[in-house]
Amino acid sequence: MVSRIVKVEPFDLVVFGGTGDLAFRKLYPALFRRYQDGQLTEPTRILAISRQEITPEDFRARVAGSLRKISGHEASELDSAKGFFTMLDYCVTDGNGERGWDDLKARLGDTKDRVRAFYLATSPDLFGPVTSRLAAHGLVSERARIIVEKPLGKDGASAARINDAIGAVFSEDRIYRIDHYLGKETVQNLMVLRFANALFEPLWNAAHIDHVQITVAECLGVEGRAAYYDTAGALRDMVQNHMLQLLCLIAMEPPATLDADAMRDEKLKVLRALKPLDEQNVTLHTVRGQYRAGSAHGSAVPGYLEELGQDRSMTETFVALKAEVENWRWAGVPFYLRTGKRLASRVSEIVVAFRPIPHSVFGTSTGSIAANRLVLRLQPDEGVKLWVMIKDPGPGGMRLQYVPLDMTFAEAFHTRYPDAYERLLLDVVRGNQTLFMRRDEVEAAWRWIDPILEAWRNSGEWPKPYLAGTWGPSASIALIERDGRTWFEDSF
Ligand code: BG6
Repeated sequence: MVSRIVKVEPFDLVVFGGTGDLAFRKLYPALFRRYQDGQLTEPTRILAISRQEITPEDFRARVAGSLRKISGHEASELDSAKGFFTMLDYCVTDGNGERGWDDLKARLGDTKDRVRAFYLATSPDLFGPVTSRLAAHGLVSERARIIVEKPLGKDGASAARINDAIGAVFSEDRIYRIDHYLGKETVQNLMVLRFANALFEPLWNAAHIDHVQITVAECLGVEGRAAYYDTAGALRDMVQNHMLQLLCLIAMEPPATLDADAMRDEKLKVLRALKPLDEQNVTLHTVRGQYRAGSAHGSAVPGYLEELGQDRSMTETFVALKAEVENWRWAGVPFYLRTGKRLASRVSEIVVAFRPIPHSVFGTSTGSIAANRLVLRLQPDEGVKLWVMIKDPGPGGMRLQYVPLDMTFAEAFHTRYPDAYERLLLDVVRGNQTLFMRRDEVEAAWRWIDPILEAWRNSGEWPKPYLAGTWGPSASIALIERDGRTWFEDSF
C-alpha cells in the first residue's frame, strides 16, 4: 500500500525570516518533499522575505545547496524538480521598518481567491510589528492566514500581548500557532490508537493505568542557540508547549469529532485540570539541571556555560517533573515528564504503564510477571510497541517472557514518515486547524508554568549540575523512585 496524495490548490506562502535556520532546515525541505510527491500545484509561490541583500537567483541557489547539504537530496533529484525552484522567489523587506513593503505588495499582486499564508519564522518581537504592517499595506487579503512559531512569549503576560497584537489583525480562525510535535506521525497515531480501537479506551483511566512517562531527551547541546536558550530554558522551550501537548493528547476525553475546536476544547480541559505546582510543592515535584562538560557520541563536549560564554546562569537545560491531572479519569495517576539537552541518547517517547495484574496464578518458577506497557516512540525511530507477557514457546514447562508487540508499520506500508512540517504546512493551506494551538490553550499552559517559574526564582536555588552524556541530575531519579517507580530507558 502507498500513501495517498491529495493535491492542494495553488497558494502563496510568504516566509518572514526566509533566510533563517528554521526556513532552511525545516520549511523548504518540507515543501520540496511535498512537491516531489506531486502535492503542490502550479502556480504556487513561496516568497522568502528578509533584510539580506540577495537576489532571487542567489536565494534559489541557497535553497538548492541546503537541500543537498542538510536534507541529503541528490543533485539528480534537484534537476528533476525544476518546477519547485520556479515557485521560489525572494524579496528584500524589513519586517521591523518600512523598506521593501511596496515591492512585496507588487509581487503578491491581487490574488484574492488564493490562500495567502504568512509564516513568521522570526523572533517573537517581530510578530506584532510584522502583522500591523501586513494590515497597513493592505496585504491581508480575504483568504490570508498567519502562522507563528513558538516561543509565544516568556510567560502568560507576554504571550497575551503577542496574541493581542496578532489578534488585532487576524481573527482566531486565521491564526495557526505551530507546535511541530502535533504534526509528528506517532502523535497522529496516538489518536488513532485511542479512538479507532475498542481495546484501549476502557482501560484508559486510573483504575488500569499506574502512571505515564513522557521523555524528550536530546544529545545535542544548545550550540549556536545559546543566546536565545538562556532566556528560555527547558521548561519554556519544551514543557510549556510540546510536552504539555503530548500530555493533553494522552489525558483528554474523546472529542466528538476531529474538528479543530472539538479537539482543542478537550485539550484545554486537561490543561485546566493540572494540579498547580507552586512554592508549596515545587521542590518536591520538580528538578532542574544544567549540563557540565562531558561526552556525546564518544567525544568530549563542553558544558552549557562554556557554550554560553558566561560564568554563571540560572537557566535549566534539564527539567523533570511530576504532574497530576485532577479529574475523575486520572485522579492519583502521576505523569512524569523529563526533557533535557546533552542527555545520554536522543529519544522521545511516551510510556503508558498499566497496573500489574492483581494476582498471579503462575508459580514462582515461571519468572516474574511485568505489567503491560504501551510505548509510543516519536524519535529517533517512530513507532508503537505494546509490551505483553507470553509463554516462552516450546516444551519444558511454563516459562513466561515479556515481549513487545511491534506496531511499527512504515515498512509494511512501504512508506516514509513525513516530517511534521510537511503535514502542518499543507494543513494551513487546507484551512485545517486541528493540529494547531488555540489562544486559550497557550494561555492555560502558561497559567500552569508561570507559578513554577516563580517558585524557582524565589527559591534562589541553582539548577543541579549533570555531566553531558548522562540522564540528568540524580535528583531526577529520586523524583520518580520516591514513588516506587523508575524511568524506563529500555522500552523500545
Ligand atoms: C524545538 C526546541 O521546539 O524543539 C528545540 O526549541 C528542540 O530546543 C526541538 O531541540 C526538538 O524538536 P525535535 O523535533 O527534534 O524533537
